[in-house]
Amino acid sequence: MIARGLMLGPDQPIILHMLDIPSAAEALNGVKMELVDAALPLLKGVIATTDLVEACTGVNIAIMLGGFPRKEGMERKEVMSKNVAIYKDQASALEQCAAKNCKVLVVANPANTNALILKEFAPSIPAKNITCLTRLDHNRALGQIAERLNMHASEVKNVIIWGNHSSTQYPDINHATVITQEGEKSVREIIANDKWLSGEFITIIRQRGAAIIRARKLSSALSAASAACDHMHDWLLGTPKGTWVSMGVCSDGSYGIPPGLIYSFPVSCEKGEWSIVQGLKIDDFSRSKMEASTNELLEEKSLAYSCLS
Ligand code: LMR
Repeated sequence: MIARGLMLGPDQPIILHMLDIPSAAEALNGVKMELVDAALPLLKGVIATTDLVEACTGVNIAIMLGGFPRKEGMERKEVMSKNVAIYKDQASALEQCAAKNCKVLVVANPANTNALILKEFAPSIPAKNITCLTRLDHNRALGQIAERLNMHASEVKNVIIWGNHSSTQYPDINHATVITQEGEKSVREIIANDKWLSGEFITIIRQRGAAIIRARKLSSALSAASAACDHMHDWLLGTPKGTWVSMGVCSDGSYGIPPGLIYSFPVSCEKGEWSIVQGLKIDDFSRSKMEASTNELLEEKSLAYSCLS
C-alpha cells in the first residue's frame, strides 16, 4: 500500500526501511524480494534489517508495528513490562538516528501507552509528532453506521473515537452526519434507535478487534494496514474542510483530558499538522464514557511507569 502511493500520494517516491526480530530475518528478506519483484515505480529503495539503528537511521516517518502480544497465562504487568522495554529501546534509536521532524505512528498494542513511553524516551522528537492508531476504530464506526443504513462508508462522516484503543474507547456518533438525497443529516436523526446507538453500536466497535481475532485466529491485518495508511495520509496531506478523523495524540487538556496523555480525539489536519477539533458539545453520557477511558489510560500509565523502576 505504501509503495503504491496510498499513504503519501501518487507522486511521492519512498525508501522503505523494514525491521524485524532476528528469528524473522529470512521471512523479512522474502518480503524484500517480493517488493523488488513488484517493480513498483515509487519504491526507490528497500532496507530489510534486524538492526534497530540501521532501521531508524534518517527515517521521516516511523510506523511502529512491533509489540509483545499477550500469551496465555500472562499477567497484564508482564505484557506491559515487555512492551515498555521494546518501546524504550525503539524510542532511543529514533531519538538518536531518525530525521529531526520524524512523524511517528504507533500501531502495536497497548498503542496509546506504547506511544506515551516512546514520547518519554525520545524527548527531542516533538510531542505533537508522536501519535497512535485509532483510525481503525474510526473507520469501523463509519462502516457500521453505513451497514445499518445500507449506505456506503464514504457517505458517513465525523464519527469520533475518544480515548484508548481498547474496550473502554468511546465511539461517539453525536456529531456524525450522513449524505442523503435531501442533503446532510445527523446520524441521530436518521437512526432514530437510541437503544442501538447507545448500546449495541458501542459494543460492536469496542469488541471488533476481538471479533476479528476470533474469526481469523489472527489480529486484524488488512483493515489495520489500511487505517494506518489513512492516518498518515490525512495527517500529511490534510483532511477535507468540515471533516475530521480520529487520532491518538498528546492531550493539551482539551475536553478536560489530562495534558500529556496520549488520547484519541477528533482532529483536523492541514499542512502536516493535526489540531484537536474544539467546541463540540459533550453530554453527560459521553462525558462519563470519556472519563472511563481516561481512567484506564491513567492506570496503564502508572503500570508502565512501575515497569520502568
Ligand atoms: C484491533 O483492534 O483489531 C487490534 O488492536 C486487536 C488486537 O488486540 O490485536
